[in-house]
Amino acid sequence: MDHAYPPLNIEVATPRLTLAAATDDLLERLVPIVRAGIVGEGEVPFDDPISLYQESPQREWTWLQRIWAGRSRVSPQFWRLYFVVLADGKPVGMQDLVGREFAALGTVTTFSWLCPSARHRGLGKEMRAAILHLAFAGLAACEATSEAFTDNHASNAVSRALGYEPNGTAWATRRGDPAQLSGWKLTLERWSSRRRDDIRLTGVEACLPVLGIEPAANVAAVAIEKGIPTDIAFFGRAARNRRLAPTRTRAWPRSQGNLSSICHKGHRRQMRDSRISHCGAPRGQDNRSLWRTRQGEYITELLRRPH
Ligand SMILES: CC(C)(COP(=O)(O)OP(=O)(O)OC[C@H]1O[C@@H](n2cnc3c(N)ncnc32)[C@H](O)[C@@H]1OP(=O)(O)O)[C@@H](O)C(=O)NCCC(=O)NCCS
Repeated sequence: MDHAYPPLNIEVATPRLTLAAATDDLLERLVPIVRAGIVGEGEVPFDDPISLYQESPQREWTWLQRIWAGRSRVSPQFWRLYFVVLADGKPVGMQDLVGREFAALGTVTTFSWLCPSARHRGLGKEMRAAILHLAFAGLAACEATSEAFTDNHASNAVSRALGYEPNGTAWATRRGDPAQLSGWKLTLERWSSRRRDDIRLTGVEACLPVLGIEPAANVAAVAIEKGIPTDIAFFGRAARNRRLAPTRTRAWPRSQGNLSSICHKGHRRQMRDSRISHCGAPRGQDNRSLWRTRQGEYITELLRRPH
């Protein structure tokens, strides 16, 4: 079904599972699993407060209320995308993606759980790989972070296996008691070196304005209009089709007036089909800023520092 609200149309499909946007119908199908319990006797995987520690039926009610509330709290400063994990067509868990000041920072965090009977089969790793693909390939994230209690071996193993690097520790409470969290981070560079080509994204482009993410084509247009020499790498459909491998070309704006004119060597049509997801540093600048600030805000920043 095509929903009027774009985030409800996003889908991420891997050979083993699908992350389907958490519509009310899908949440309803997950209720029996939540009612049966996500947390086993003596397990304390989550920090406080979380509905999954509560007794049923309060557990299901609060769980639904928090998802509904999170779904409606959407701004460029904060958004959370909720997905139901479908394995063999059956809902088995959730995988969320959270962006805070995403347009400025390009960083995301993830949160997930699987029903106990679906664990230890590699699905945890697969669903994290899927959400990372959405973050990096779909939304042009720069870095993904994750946190799990130091004794949450499964979650920490998923991060380690997918190439995250240790990112310090922190403290949180679980069921009221203090416990140490292990932090993890995965940079775009590290993700790119492991990038998979068997994960399919659907419905992402239409979501960008809802999440306050400047469509990259606009960013490029601004750069051209303001006369900023900009390296632009082309990703999107053309790159996915491998007709145009992620390629960098240079826009020489002063002599050129519109977006399509930055295309070269017959790439004009691919350009129209593509979403520009990299706007790099001007020549001579440290290339590291390419990764940190390549969203719309990077251009804004450049505008403040004309050279
Ligand atoms: C975290 C979770 C989603 C991982 O899913 P999973 O399907 O169990 O994980 P996978 O089968 O993909 O295993 C991933 C890795 O974890 C390891 N692993 C899984 N369970 C483990 C355990 N109990 N102890 C040690 N290692 C474990 C696997 O061996 C594998 O490591 P490898 O890649 O080095 O072989 C799942 O365990 C879960 O829902 N846990 C409860 C909720 C939770 O903790 N969420 C995260 C909160 S931060």
